[in-house]
Amino acid sequence: MAALSNELTPGQAGASGKVILFGEHAVVYGQPALAVPVAEVKATAVITTLEPAPAPAGLETAIWIEARDLRRRYRLSEASLNDPLAAAVRLTLAKYQSAAPAASPAPFALVLSSTIPIGSGLGSGAAVCTAAVRALGAFLGLALSNAEVSAIVYETEKLLHGTPSGIDNTVIAYDQPVYFVRGQAPVPFRTAAPFTLVIGDTGLSKPTRLVVGEVRLAYEGEPARYGAIFEAIGQIVRQAYALIESGETDRLGPLMKQNHALLQEIGVSCPELDTLVARALEAGALGAKLSGGGRGGNMIALVPPEAAAGVAAALEAHGARRALVTEVK
Ligand code: MEV
Repeated sequence: MAALSNELTPGQAGASGKVILFGEHAVVYGQPALAVPVAEVKATAVITTLEPAPAPAGLETAIWIEARDLRRRYRLSEASLNDPLAAAVRLTLAKYQSAAPAASPAPFALVLSSTIPIGSGLGSGAAVCTAAVRALGAFLGLALSNAEVSAIVYETEKLLHGTPSGIDNTVIAYDQPVYFVRGQAPVPFRTAAPFTLVIGDTGLSKPTRLVVGEVRLAYEGEPARYGAIFEAIGQIVRQAYALIESGETDRLGPLMKQNHALLQEIGVSCPELDTLVARALEAGALGAKLSGGGRGGNMIALVPPEAAAGVAAALEAHGARRALVTEVK
């Protein structure tokens, strides 16, 4: 790798993780969903300029990507077209080049690190790509809107997840709670009253793309039954959104239980998730459900703030790899 110069450029950015509050899977079929950022876990991207080194010609040979958590470091020119991080860089560079066709950035390394567990439904892929796009945009002097960042990251999500609804890139790029319907402009919002969630990680990692694919097959086998379940989930999302808007968040608990039961019906829960949901409720949660693709990954529990530590401890005592507490605002 070319020598690092001492200078850090103004190309640093972070991106939060996320959880889906209500509506996962049904959102792929046009129903609304609600998602919120989780600032307790983060991806970080730093651009470092490199000494111009004698390198083979071409801009892509002068750009390095270093994904610290994956222990990978490679030139952009060596990355396949399916590499989400490389796609994030290429799409951002394309915006830069269309704005300033004659300009060429100095050689640089994009260094990424993340505290978001991979493959657990907390949006690690979308967050790393969002941090990368933001950092590179700042380095190149591009004023990218949240919508532009989200659109670029959506392209990378397609490489990771096949047919994503777009909710993960949206909530992470906007860094705000969102009411999301596929194909429509997202509605970022602020909650009328903050509320507390405990997020419990089963420690099992199941790629979202596989679970979404299995739900697709099941839906195609029984479209009427699955369609009715997705519709029922959509109703729950609309009710939950109204409660969050009016600040009646302590009434969300029963809706979470109903949403979890419907997700069980479409086969995306698993014994580990069901155990954590049950234990959270026993320990004082007002409601609980799986969150994200399912069959592993994370569950969320709505808790009175004073019960958060007890619920987190109960989850860790019953198999959660870790439990973290976040306040949704
Ligand atoms: C993944 O975070 C949420 C799913 O609904 C998939 C998607 O919306 O693309 C399972």
